[in-house]
Amino acid sequence: MSAARAGRPSVVVTRRLPAPVEDRLARDFDARLNRDDHPFTAAELGEALRTADALLPTVTDRLTADVLAVEPLRARILANYGVGFNHIDVGAAKARGLTVTNTPDVLTDDTADDAVMLMLMVARRAVEGDRHVRSGAWTGWGPTHMLGTKVSGKTLGLIGLGRIGRAVARRAHHGFAMKIVFHDPYPPSPAVVAELGAEPRGSVEAVLREADFVSLHSPATPETRHLINAERLALMRPSAFLINTARGDIVDEAALVAALKARRIAGAALDVFEREPQVTPELLTLDNVVLLPHLGSATQETRVAMGLRACDNLKAFFAGAPPGDRVV
Ligand code: 8YV
Repeated sequence: MSAARAGRPSVVVTRRLPAPVEDRLARDFDARLNRDDHPFTAAELGEALRTADALLPTVTDRLTADVLAVEPLRARILANYGVGFNHIDVGAAKARGLTVTNTPDVLTDDTADDAVMLMLMVARRAVEGDRHVRSGAWTGWGPTHMLGTKVSGKTLGLIGLGRIGRAVARRAHHGFAMKIVFHDPYPPSPAVVAELGAEPRGSVEAVLREADFVSLHSPATPETRHLINAERLALMRPSAFLINTARGDIVDEAALVAALKARRIAGAALDVFEREPQVTPELLTLDNVVLLPHLGSATQETRVAMGLRACDNLKAFFAGAPPGDRVV
């Protein structure tokens, strides 16, 4: 290894990333890549924190206070791949002097597309229809066959109007002529809200009572854990659908199963789950749900952009400049 190469910061990359990202990491850093893409154990995360200058983790890495307590700690930055960072105990990271960055903006459009796709899929029974055709059960067109629920012109309730919530509102209002109501304790400016044709509501409950579709766009924090519980599900209209592309912890999955089984709500479309990759088994048996394996940002273009953004954060940090996407 040349002296210049040896002098470069070492970065443990916990999962396989798209080739252009791994190429850039290998060019700019002493990158330790995960060739077989296995999810890291707590012991492997600890080893990485002890032996490398930086970690580039993903949502599958649980960086708990215990894991971050390693001695001696060599790492100085966790450059997370993704905008959500609820898998990292940022309080513990900060206490250990670690910088944490994320990758906002670049995945906003894809995640909003995912939410709109799920809304259409569940309302128009797309997955049921696909299964029906593939199974050979289809006997031909019929005027009352597999009728779904109209989306255009309906009311969409957004819990959270941050970057992704706003991108969903834009699509739904300008593309599907939907009425947008929302609740966000930290709402955007009135001008932004007006451009989206969005109307604020004073509480989560008010949104749930009014919406035909409820889409979740809050961060996962201790405050938002089980925000959607049995009591709040009971406030939704029996004809309404729940869409979750945010984080599984925001919904009490057991309460959701009970509401779906009792037809207290019409359906749900989920991209995220409480205990990924485990899914509450009863969800698998219900026709009125659509289940995707955490695909919000899963396009080639966006997964490359997320990786390059994480590289930029690492570059800035090791150049002594504040990384643009610093969380703590
Ligand atoms: C990522 C996500 O796929 O960015 C996020 O918060 O949930 C997803 O887009 C995942 O976090 C990558 O680590």
